Amino acid sequence: MINIDGHLFIIGFMGAGKSSVGEMLARRLGRPFYDLDERIERSAGAPVPRIFEREGEAAFRALETAQLQALEHESPGVVALGGGAVTTPANLPLMRGMGRVVYLKVSVGEALARIGDTSSRPLLSGPGGVLAATALYEARQGLYDTVADVAVDTDGKDTLEVVEAVIEALQEGGL
Ligand code: S3P
Repeated sequence: MINIDGHLFIIGFMGAGKSSVGEMLARRLGRPFYDLDERIERSAGAPVPRIFEREGEAAFRALETAQLQALEHESPGVVALGGGAVTTPANLPLMRGMGRVVYLKVSVGEALARIGDTSSRPLLSGPGGVLAATALYEARQGLYDTVADVAVDTDGKDTLEVVEAVIEALQEGGL
């Protein structure tokens, strides 16, 4: 049994599988699933790349924090966050105050291979390609580690295997 009162937040780099794992995990736990990027897109009436293009990253981050805050009024569920949500300092106490945090770990090579076409990821589709992705990846590792209650390796695993590993890690952590 998982005894988490609040939300279960899923964090990790782009391509870690946050949305697919989050959705399956929510079904397994009988909880609602919330995808933060989707909620941002609905509230802004535009896809993520268009928000970046028209208004810039800072505006996107403000929408991200507002949507995270709004989850306070939703019944406890599983929440897939965007890979950069941890880079806004205010988001860290918000997540910890509203529930528990699961970090899906992925190597940068596997992340890029899973993503394939980067056109829907504005931070990867610009100049710099793999080098830019690696720098971003390295800059974020410490943040993911700091905020996570549990961490699960995903390299070489399919969605079901990751979901099982998350449930096991939560149980082992007494959560
Ligand atoms: C971002 C990750 C994306 C999305 C936006 C910014 C990031 O979400 O929120 O493009 O900064 O890593 P995914 O991690 O679901 O791709």
